[in-house]
Parts: sequence; structure tokens; C-alpha cells
Amino acid sequence: MKTSATAFAPASVSNVASGFDIMGFALESPGDRVTVRFSGTPGVRIAAVHSAGSPLPMDPALNTAGAPVIAMLKDHGSGHGVEIEIDKGLPVGSGIGSSAASAVAAAVACNELLQADLTPQEILKYAIEGERIASGAIHVDNLAPCLWGGFVLVRGYDPIDIIPVRIPMGLWCTIASPLIEIKTIEARKILPASVPLRDVITQTGNAAGLIAGLLTDDFALIGRSLHDVIAEPVRAPLIPGFHRLKAAALEAGALGCSISGSGPALFALSASREIAERVGCLQGRVLDDLHMERTVYVSCVAHRGAHIVE
Ligand code: HSE
Repeated sequence: MKTSATAFAPASVSNVASGFDIMGFALESPGDRVTVRFSGTPGVRIAAVHSAGSPLPMDPALNTAGAPVIAMLKDHGSGHGVEIEIDKGLPVGSGIGSSAASAVAAAVACNELLQADLTPQEILKYAIEGERIASGAIHVDNLAPCLWGGFVLVRGYDPIDIIPVRIPMGLWCTIASPLIEIKTIEARKILPASVPLRDVITQTGNAAGLIAGLLTDDFALIGRSLHDVIAEPVRAPLIPGFHRLKAAALEAGALGCSISGSGPALFALSASREIAERVGCLQGRVLDDLHMERTVYVSCVAHRGAHIVE
């Protein structure tokens, strides 16, 4: 019998401009590592959180890694106690799927520890318990790519219907992440309660165009489709320098650029690694100019999602 298991879960970009709550893709790194181990004490305990950022809740029911473990133990546990150790590689509240990575890594590790043999679809059900804490709503556009890897379309929520989408070779992503925190739960409160029909037509056209562009390796179509008329207009003011950062990405040759998840990070997609690095360079300069602490990541879209590492 196993006594412990560790899983790695990668960062992810959700929304992807035109796919609010329905599209996302995994990055190669950074990511979170979560270890779960049996303990002699009944119940679930957060034993340690290693994080450079703001402190995370130590109550497992309020922790994005704790909640999936509690739920999985309820259905598949053997009466053992479990303790959890979290290594946060992802900055909290940055917009690159930090809560999703902790929830998915915890669920994948717990599945391994309990030898529960769950499918990704079943693991997702438990990981949702963690994401619900962070955003106060059910959305799986970070969880699904983090778990499956690659680019994922959430075709529907009732029931959840995950469609992996093949992507062109050579698609690279730049993340410009100013070191400020935006809570998803707050960034969802400012979204419009209803959307004009004209905007629905624009958004669905772009979402369909993005998927078509990915499936046919049509980089120009991908670029034309990376527009968000629903979330970006109301969330951009939360991000200092947003319009300058977006302009820098396009000037450097990116196909498109928008907010990653609920921000404050921006993502840009490019047709080569060279362009993605140039985007990172120019956006880094803008953030330096604004005297903002920042991290810039350049990654391909990662085919591999969360996995067991020990
Ligand atoms: N689709 C979600 C949102 C992602 O934009 O609120 C949050 O990371």
C-alpha cells in the first residue's frame, strides 16, 4: 500500500480572449506540487504550505487543495487520516490558474494515494470543490486544461463536456504577470449580468473562429479571433498599464493578447518562440517603466497535464 503521493499540476490560461469560461490551455511551467500522505490522526490536515506569496488558509475546508481531498476521502476513503503539503510554484491571484493547479494536483495525488483509479472526468468533479472556494462559482476552464493538458474547450456545463482541441505546431505563449493580486471572486462580481445581442454575436463568432483557426493551423484566423467584448472591457481597468502591455505584444508580432483568466496576468499567443520571447521582452520593459514588480514566462502550449511525480 502507498503511504504518500505527489502530483505536479501546471499553470493554465483560461478564457483565451473569446472563450469566457469555456476555453483554456496548459503551460509547461510553472506549476504547483501537492503531496498527500496517510497520517495516524483522523481527518484532513494541511501540514505545510510553501509559498512566496500571501498566506493560504490552513483550514482544509477553505483551502483549494484541501476541499478536493475532503470530498474524495468521503467517497473513496478507508477511514485513514490524510495530511497535505503544498508547494506553490504559482503566484496566488495572478490569473494563471493558481487555485486550479492546487486543486488538480491535490485530486490527482489523492486518487493515487487511495488507488481509486478515477478517470479524469471523475477527478475533475473533486477538483471543482477547490476551484469553487477561489471563485465562488463553478467554472472549469483552468481545471480542465490543467488536468488534461493541451487546449481544451468546455462545450457545456450541464453536464460538463470537455473537448480537447488539437493545436498547430509552433504556437507559443507569453505571460506578463504584474505582481499584484486580483481575486477571481471579486473579478467575477464586476461582470455584466446580461450582454447585448450584438456582443454575443461578436463573441461567439470569435470563439468559433478561434477553434477553426486552431484546427486548420490558420494563424491569421487565430489572431483575428483573439478578441473579448465581454470580460476584457470591464476587467482591463483593474490592471495597471493593460492597454500599453497589449499594444507592446501586438507591436512585437503576437497574434493576439488579452487578460489571462481574471488577471492581472496578460497572455499573448505567437506563431514562434522567437516572437513570444520578443513579446515578453517588450512587455517586461513596459512593466519596468511602470515600476511594477513582475514575472514574464514564455512557454509552448503543454501537451501534458497534471501527473504523478513521486
Ligand atoms: N473564466 C474564469 C473567469 C477564470 O474569468 O472568471 C478565472 O481564472
